[in-house]
Amino acid sequence: MATYENSAAQQPVPRGFPTVRPRRLRHNPLIRDVVRETTLSVQDLILPLFVRSGRGIKKEIASMPGNYQLSIDCLVDEVGDALELGVCSFILFGIPAHKDATGSGALDPEGIVQQALRALRKEYGDRALLMTDECFCEYTDHGHCGVLTEATGRLDLDNDATLPLLAEQCVSHVRAGADLVAPSGMLDGMVGAIRASLDAAGFSHVPIMSYSAKYASGFYGPFRDAAESPPQFGDRSSYQMDPANGDEALREVELDLAEGADIVMVKPALAYLDIIRRVKERFGVPVAAYNVSGEFAMIKAAAQKGWIDERRVAVEVLTGIKRAGADMILTYFARDAARWLK
Ligand code: PBG
Repeated sequence: MATYENSAAQQPVPRGFPTVRPRRLRHNPLIRDVVRETTLSVQDLILPLFVRSGRGIKKEIASMPGNYQLSIDCLVDEVGDALELGVCSFILFGIPAHKDATGSGALDPEGIVQQALRALRKEYGDRALLMTDECFCEYTDHGHCGVLTEATGRLDLDNDATLPLLAEQCVSHVRAGADLVAPSGMLDGMVGAIRASLDAAGFSHVPIMSYSAKYASGFYGPFRDAAESPPQFGDRSSYQMDPANGDEALREVELDLAEGADIVMVKPALAYLDIIRRVKERFGVPVAAYNVSGEFAMIKAAAQKGWIDERRVAVEVLTGIKRAGADMILTYFARDAARWLK
């Protein structure tokens, strides 16, 4: 014993290498599993789906391989397949047959999303979590996210006039079966207006996931083809955020939380991982990240050229988004990831 103590006393105090060797914990797959900090699981993933009128339509979106514009019958099948894989959360985008200046199709009880919600609810009951994107850009003939005004001297989104319409759209979707509404227009006061209308309609239990920090991004390109919603003039920079701003995202999130948002979203994800992290650290609320269409398309395109390994890169990206602080990820990889993670 004394010998041992003596020899221990003679050892140099460890100062890193070679006593400390981080590689020990990477030595084999089982030890790597045991020390892994971030685990991606299928429950974290929300699959965006595009629904349009018609029957038997499953039209692939050119820039988003494996994603489709679906008529309601095909949407029901698609959701069934996803449920089989373990994907249980969906966000619906509607492509209406007719567009007009105010996006009135969005409020129609017989509108495309309302019909789709009823069909899915009838088929799957509570097995599917049905979320709805709440915005007018798919429904207006000018492609902006609400009604327009020239009051400020140029044609611009009329924030306050759009709020009651947006709230009405949400109530209509919840009546049709939506479990959660996700306003994406970046209007000031949108969460408060929606919360008040949902509560007044008896839906105080329905959560709001706000696209709180949504940037004016080039990464939405493929989506605008999918949803047929590009702005017909100008861009969305007067309502979506400047990619250069971080503190402003925290203010947006703070306001949405004060107005009653239950989940806050950062969108896009990859160029904004710092924002995801700051939001999570500052507020500690459920954070969603949208791995948007352009982020998906880049991986698909490079993989098709044989330049990267799609599965490896996609799982790496999704894991990175989660590691940054996202609790859930909206992603067009949801189905593939469910297969890969099995
Ligand atoms: C607006 C909306 C957009 C996306 C989701 N909701 C487009 C936009 O703001 O132009 C983009 C999603 C994606 O790129 O995957 N309704």
